[in-house]
Amino acid sequence: MSRTTIKEVAEAAGQVVTVKGWVHTRRDHGKLIFIDIRDRSGILQVVFIPSNKEAHELAQTLRSEFVVAITGQINERPANMINDKIPTGKVEMLATGLEIINEAKTTPFQIDQDTMEVSEELRMKYRYLDLRSLRMMNNLVMRSKVNKFFRDFLEKQDFLEIETPILTKGTPEGAREFLVPSRIWPGKFYVLPQSPQQFKQLLMVAGTEKYFQIARCFRDEDTRGDRQAEFTQLDIEMSFIEQEDLWQIIEGMTIELVETLYPHKKLTAKPFPRLTHAECMEKYGTDKPDLRVNKEDPDELAFMWLVDAPMFKYSETEKKLVAAHHPFTMPNLDDMKEFPEEPRKWRSYGYDLVLNGFEIGGGSIRIHLRDIQQKVFELLGVGEAEIKNRFGHMLEAFEFGAPPHGGLAFGIDRVLAILQNEPNIREVIVFPKTGDSRDLMMDAPNYTSLAALREANIRLPEKLEAEAKEKGINLYGEQSQIAD
Ligand code: AMO
Repeated sequence: MSRTTIKEVAEAAGQVVTVKGWVHTRRDHGKLIFIDIRDRSGILQVVFIPSNKEAHELAQTLRSEFVVAITGQINERPANMINDKIPTGKVEMLATGLEIINEAKTTPFQIDQDTMEVSEELRMKYRYLDLRSLRMMNNLVMRSKVNKFFRDFLEKQDFLEIETPILTKGTPEGAREFLVPSRIWPGKFYVLPQSPQQFKQLLMVAGTEKYFQIARCFRDEDTRGDRQAEFTQLDIEMSFIEQEDLWQIIEGMTIELVETLYPHKKLTAKPFPRLTHAECMEKYGTDKPDLRVNKEDPDELAFMWLVDAPMFKYSETEKKLVAAHHPFTMPNLDDMKEFPEEPRKWRSYGYDLVLNGFEIGGGSIRIHLRDIQQKVFELLGVGEAEIKNRFGHMLEAFEFGAPPHGGLAFGIDRVLAILQNEPNIREVIVFPKTGDSRDLMMDAPNYTSLAALREANIRLPEKLEAEAKEKGINLYGEQSQIAD
């Protein structure tokens, strides 16, 4: 018999169907055996009665997380047994057939309960089990819906979804970069993108006008609650726009997202308040204030635009000016004229979108004029040779008819974590990394073979080899028995 999903069973009273999924719980009530069977779409209560002898006997051997197929009649539950909390709460199945498709060992933690209290190391090692739990599966479902919403919304507005490279050259976003050694070019490296910033600007020079991408970004920085080394942006860029145009589109999209997928949430203010960086710092002492009226309310959403961000800030560690956003941001031209010798006084056309005290998005109108870009690099202390080497392609592109352009990137993980009322972004990332950037399930990063290192033109430092020898660690892993 073909499979009926549990969601569909809610509407199938009176019919005989087969459902397939995992044993969520088993309760024995005297001679009756109650099984909650779970598939991605929901949970269904199934009753095994002694008169259906074969199925009833087999049901006695069922344990949590066994994979089963159960056939039976869907019946309306008596009024006093209705469970309003689940869509299938008005029905139950009277089982006539049971097939055990696959057995399961006792799982390292219980899946029929919220896993938030389980040690996170254990949850990450067995992430595929953690994801079976209702809250985690719901986070995956909502993430998929949010991504689809963004895609549909932007496509309707004539944006093109364009994928940009992962093996590339560095783009400065203020973090350390991940390097990938080149086999074919000894001594040379690719860099994983901290964001698609340069590509999206070059796509504007290419004439694509409206671009978006759900883009994976890589930053070799310490992991925190709202930070991962690998994270996802909704990256957007448009040509022939001013700040106001972009704010309107993004704000409209954000409000529609909430109203469509989270209709029970309420916005503190609509339209979103706009605060200049200077006002915000003076009033709240932070550039990402939490403007909720009731900070205890999990369903209140306080969005805010932070505008007129400074162009530069002084880095005490580097003892020089650094870009407050990134060096492609357009400085405020009036400030440039008024304080030509005091770049620290320049504001920029840079902005952030803040939600409940978190920066969820950042962007700017970009420089599209070669001379201004050159000047900004010089002010940042980038030497002539480095400008040519690292950014020559950008400067050159600006000489071939670059349109005015600007954009923004949302941190999708952060947006999701807040919308799903999760305490950190790991809860909404399918396979996240630990605080010290390990993937406990895959056991990455890991050692590799000497042959692979040689091919990648890498030699490990002698000091590391000596230390490893002392500790009995084999830096070169096991020789692989299967072709990679
Ligand atoms: P920015 O660096 O501000 O801008 O990043 C945009 C948004 O991405 C999210 N974000 C992160 N989320 C999780 N983990 C991280 N390590 C992390 N770093 C950033 C934040 C942030 O607001 N290219 C520019 C965008 C632009 O100018 O259009 C950029 O990447 O929510």
